[in-house]
Amino acid sequence: MPHLLSLIREDVATVMEHDPAAKSRLEVYLCYSGLHAVWFYRVNHWLWNHRLFLLGRWLSQAARLLTGIEIHPGAKVGRRLFIDHGMGVVIGETAIVGDDVTLYQGVTLGGTGKEHGKRHPTLEDNVVVGGGAKILGNITVGRNSRIGAGSVVLRNVPEHSTVVGVPGHIIFREGKRVVITDPKQINDPLSEALAAVATEVNRLRDRVQRLEGSEGKGDPLSATLQQIMEDVDYQI
Ligand SMILES: CC(C)(COP(=O)(O)OP(=O)(O)OC[C@H]1O[C@@H](n2cnc3c(N)ncnc32)[C@H](O)[C@@H]1OP(=O)(O)O)[C@@H](O)C(=O)NCCC(=O)NCCS
Repeated sequence: MPHLLSLIREDVATVMEHDPAAKSRLEVYLCYSGLHAVWFYRVNHWLWNHRLFLLGRWLSQAARLLTGIEIHPGAKVGRRLFIDHGMGVVIGETAIVGDDVTLYQGVTLGGTGKEHGKRHPTLEDNVVVGGGAKILGNITVGRNSRIGAGSVVLRNVPEHSTVVGVPGHIIFREGKRVVITDPKQINDPLSEALAAVATEVNRLRDRVQRLEGSEGKGDPLSATLQQIMEDVDYQI
């Protein structure tokens, strides 16, 4: 671990540069448990790579006790990882984290429970993951992408994208808004239910129009149904 001290200095400098809440270097050294967890990880990863698996694992649990952050010593973590607030962050054994990544509290880089081997995500450089987000499985989040707070991401995310929701879907790509027109793109059981409701409303509107023997122009009931259809279309 010849570089440990220089990595620590680099981490502190990065926090001073990017976190407006950081008032002094001493404060960052003493109060940023996200950094403490990363420093523990650097030692534990070295132990892991030197086949001291149990010691590395045991120390990672000690680090979790002290910081509330669990980084498996087998994970591969790049430089200047910033875990802000930190409590509840979990980084799995086969996760790969690039340089200059930011994770907020409650983030999980976990497995789906269905895969073997490489079963945790890869985050490329400059990714930001919002509080409570879950990124699951052997997927890749491309560089400079952002994952919204509370999202659950189960599919690859391209570079320069913003993803929100459960399950996560892209709302911005390369700075442009992405509009979802097909509910299947979200792959959310709820949007299937909404699509079914929209179909049913359509069917009922046709029926009401037939019963009334009109096209419904100027008819308040049809106007209301039309409004419902438009709202539902917008939501899905
Ligand atoms: C995802 C995020 C990066 C997007 O920020 P942004 O690019 O400024 O996007 P906007 O705020 O303009 O939101 C764009 C749309 O996404 C929605 N959205 C934003 N964040 C969302 C989230 N986490 N979950 C669901 N929807 C979200 C907004 O409601 C908006 O929808 P609309 O256009 O239909 O009204 C940001 O909202 C976020 O979640 N950041 C994480 C911050 C965090 O975890 N902080 C912890 C501090 S302790």
